[in-house]
Amino acid sequence: MIYSADEESIQLAVEQLKLGHCIGFPTETVYGLAGDGLNEAAIAQVFDIKQRPSFDPLIFHISEQQDLYVLASEVPDDARKLIDAFWPGPMTLILPKQPDIPDLATSGLPTVAIRCPEHEVAQKVLTLFGGPIVAPSANRFGRISPTTAHAVREELGERLEFILDGGPCGRGIESTIIDCSSDSPKIARLGSLAKEDVEKIVGPVEIVSSNGPPSAPGMLKSHYAPKTTMYLAKDPFQSQMLATSNHVYIVLKNTGIPHQNVLELSGGEDLMEAARRLFALMREADVRKCQSIIAFPVPEDGLGRAINDRLVKAASGSVQWRNASWVLSRS
Ligand code: TXA
Ligand code: MG
Repeated sequence: MIYSADEESIQLAVEQLKLGHCIGFPTETVYGLAGDGLNEAAIAQVFDIKQRPSFDPLIFHISEQQDLYVLASEVPDDARKLIDAFWPGPMTLILPKQPDIPDLATSGLPTVAIRCPEHEVAQKVLTLFGGPIVAPSANRFGRISPTTAHAVREELGERLEFILDGGPCGRGIESTIIDCSSDSPKIARLGSLAKEDVEKIVGPVEIVSSNGPPSAPGMLKSHYAPKTTMYLAKDPFQSQMLATSNHVYIVLKNTGIPHQNVLELSGGEDLMEAARRLFALMREADVRKCQSIIAFPVPEDGLGRAINDRLVKAASGSVQWRNASWVLSRS
């Protein structure tokens, strides 16, 4: 059931967590599937509800910086600077873990992922609960992350009894994960905090795009995927493409003729707005029941990198516009 996030339902949600049950809750990035981070049974339930493989570790959410030391055994200088700059906010840090954190949550890794969300409802839940909460995105494994309470119900429906509705997520894309467990910080998942902003604090950072678990956060093939087959367009959007349409198009700005099958991320070409709307538009594209979804990459800077990363992962391949039709492209 969906509960509007007032004081009373937040209280009820926290009682659920204390009983070891999972709930859906809003964060500024995407909705999370929350469970008590120090309760093995609750952690197991999170994996089970999401149908997530046990080798893919969870992010711990905390309400304030002091809770950090319950989870992390060490906080290097760069991590400290990042925390001072961006918490609470859409940044997750990977740090060496305290030995008594359940291995189930970290998939047996020597590190732990920690984030302090800024969403008011998430903060209230965390403060009242009084301990760390594990929360992966509240979607079935491999699917599009939910950015509304309704999308959580669509994803997990009967598997989840309690969903706190805090309105649509303000950021719309998951947190940026920064690995601070070794010498220099590295971006392990692009997300709602732009690389440029991270670099203002700690200097140039590498993006480590890995191809297998467990060093592959959200990097498994076919992540964030809609049910309709999605392709990435290798050519710019043109209105002639609509003539062939049994496709639905996702574009940054619709420069062609307005058409019901053209979904625009941001008319003003604002990448923050585009990020906020991306997953909702992918869901919207899915319900059109077209032959395929064709998405056009956005400019590769700022949040554009994270948007393109999600498009690539959601897509089964790329297509090129040749002789007035779409053809699968090799590269
Ligand atoms: O914005 C977010 O981060 C959302 C909201 C709900 O907070 N959560 C989220 O969680 O995106 P999830 O579980 O969907 O993605 C977490 C990613 C996983 O892909 C996992 O592989 C990675 O974080 N991860 C967790 N612990 C890790 C660790 N110790 N080392 C490397 N990657 C880790
Ligand atoms: Mg996820």
